[in-house]
Amino acid sequence: MVNDRNILLCVSGGIAAYKACALTSKLVQAGANVRVAMTQSAEQFVGKATFQALSRNPVYTDVFKEHDPTKIAHIDIPDASDLIVVAPATANMIAKLANGIADDFITTSILAATCPVIVSPAMNVNMLDHPATRRNIETLKSFGYQIIEPGVGNLACGWIGGGRLPEPEDLLRIIESQFVPKHLLGKRVLVTAGPTVERIDPVRFLSNDSSGKMGVALAEAARDMGADVTLVHGPLQIPVPAGVTAIPVESSADMLETMLARFDAQHLVIKSAAVADYRPKTVHAEKHKKVHGPLTIELEETTDILKTLGMRKTTQTLVGFAAETEHLETHARAKLEKKRVDYLVANDVSTPGVGFGADENEVTLFRADGSSTRLPRQTKRQLAIELLTHFKEGIQ
Ligand code: PMT
Repeated sequence: MVNDRNILLCVSGGIAAYKACALTSKLVQAGANVRVAMTQSAEQFVGKATFQALSRNPVYTDVFKEHDPTKIAHIDIPDASDLIVVAPATANMIAKLANGIADDFITTSILAATCPVIVSPAMNVNMLDHPATRRNIETLKSFGYQIIEPGVGNLACGWIGGGRLPEPEDLLRIIESQFVPKHLLGKRVLVTAGPTVERIDPVRFLSNDSSGKMGVALAEAARDMGADVTLVHGPLQIPVPAGVTAIPVESSADMLETMLARFDAQHLVIKSAAVADYRPKTVHAEKHKKVHGPLTIELEETTDILKTLGMRKTTQTLVGFAAETEHLETHARAKLEKKRVDYLVANDVSTPGVGFGADENEVTLFRADGSSTRLPRQTKRQLAIELLTHFKEGIQ
């Protein structure tokens, strides 16, 4: 997503400047062309040579020190940038930007910039909460700059509260999301993720190995593409992305009820959750006592949620998943037809490193018109963007 993008990373003088080093490294690894600009105060925390080595580009600290005399760097660099990121942004930097002060490389560059600007404040909680800083942040928002809300936790100054710079991997995701095409603007998307939990008694249940990563990646990618996203999910091993409406559920019956209540209003519905096909016929109100010898639990079939939605659909684009261990194409095509879906995403969950719990997946996308597309192994995040780019073709 950031591959070949020109990003100007502006580092101002706070202790969180060290995190900007890891961010530079992650951006470069992801293929971005990173230029780093630093304030004099930032140089008190991290050496210029560190950013130069990590970015493999000159580092800009002085507006009058031109690396190339044929160019004016504080105009040329922002002109060539696809995105400017200020991380960490100190209270002083925010105040200068809010008031149009241009007295160093960063502030002159941003004043001259026409590309999007992201500002990630990091400071002591009281400095952040001061009316002056709050007002300045509001001013930056009114310029159209995106403000990353600082995290809450232990601050370097000893206080506990808001003011932490997000972790570099979180900043990377926010930066990546800027470059996702807004194909789903104005669309409502409903995604399911994770396993369902079918109770045996108050302390035991039947479930499966789904982590929720595939569904969460789809929800996050749909959000980045501009959709209004609702995520109906069983227990997840990863957090729900910000900006996504989350509805936690437990059993397949809960999921069915939740989906039916929301289905009609959606443009796109994606069922990537691993829903139980069977549940215990009897749910014990008290903990089931150990019996000597084998124990038999009678199971009954759950309602097939996807099939129920397939029967009900009118204008919605409906997507199912199929977790297979053999005869992938035959089983997937049968599910596509039986459940009346528009797209069926089939994954071979017996392949090591993909499917349940993994960070990557490889799938074949089957369409109702009989065509199919193989999507090779990649991160679930990248795959989600690719899948949604296909689904958007079918949205009415
Ligand atoms: O969560 P992760 O760890 O990231 O793993 C991702 C995944 C492997 C769970 C995901 O990629 C996946 O394959 N999800 C579908 C799992 C599944 O339930 O497959 P299935 O072939 O059993 O079911 C087919 C479809 O019917 C699915 O869309 C399922 O949500 C739906 N279904 C199944 C049973 C049921 N009672 N109701 C349903 O709606």
